[in-house]
Amino acid sequence: MYAHSNTIMILQGKTALITGAGRGIGRAIALCFAREGCNVAFTDLELSDQVRATESELLALGIQAKAYAADAAHFNAAQTIVEQVQADFGTIDILVNNAGITRDGLLLRMNEQQWDDVISVNLKSAFNYTHAVIPIMMRARRGSIISIASVVGLAGNPGQANYAASKAGIIALMKSIAKELGPRGLRANAVAPGYIDTDMTQALPQQVRDSFIERIPMHRAGTTDEVAQAVLFLASDMSSYISGQVLAIDGAMN
Ligand code: NAI
Repeated sequence: MYAHSNTIMILQGKTALITGAGRGIGRAIALCFAREGCNVAFTDLELSDQVRATESELLALGIQAKAYAADAAHFNAAQTIVEQVQADFGTIDILVNNAGITRDGLLLRMNEQQWDDVISVNLKSAFNYTHAVIPIMMRARRGSIISIASVVGLAGNPGQANYAASKAGIIALMKSIAKELGPRGLRANAVAPGYIDTDMTQALPQQVRDSFIERIPMHRAGTTDEVAQAVLFLASDMSSYISGQVLAIDGAMN
């Protein structure tokens, strides 16, 4: 983990909304932002013990934090959550579209449900939340939107056509918004993590995990904190002239 300075908090006084942040990469982003003085609203499918534990950890850092239960794939729910967050926190400066799932399978055997689920949770959710927050950001004439894509969205991957398509879509969505809303002072970027140690990747068979690691020039998986730090950079004013980009966090895999 990076050395944290107690003197400079680069997101001091800002408010972030992060989808699917009860665990994994989203949770790491939430904690990383909170350590930098950011208030954090986050969603997950339900207010489970794990989600409540993340909320408590955030509150212990002395910032305002609240968990909201919502399926990120639902358009109307996104609107409602954003309205609640605005009422609870007063504003939204940063949106992180993080919620994501895999439903892997070779295309020949992939059914419609596998395709629809992944596109809805990974891609439509980013549309839902971006659509809901941009009026707030446009009025403020500032805002940073970051979506968690994947190296698979840049390179493709056998057995993950649905996932790769959703992640390529999210990259194009961010690039389009960057162009559409740049004149309004908004920035939009994507990060493309490679192989990161999380529950999602722990679910893969050991043999598959070993073969991934073999193909990574840095010969190790990335950590959720390493993804969070790149997202922190894109969320903060340190990246104030960077928009429409996709930043790979993959140990030189691509
Ligand atoms: P994870 O499975 O550990 O955590 C995902 C979180 O999102 C969970 O808390 C889950 O409950 C929540 N979630 C799932 N569906 C949701 C929905 N419909 N609405 C709201 N919340 C929902 O996954 P991980 O690894 O932390 O992944 C986070 C993001 O990073 C995903 O978009 C994933 O595709 C992406 N990613 C992950 C990589 C990895 O190696 N773990 C690599 C590249 C990208």
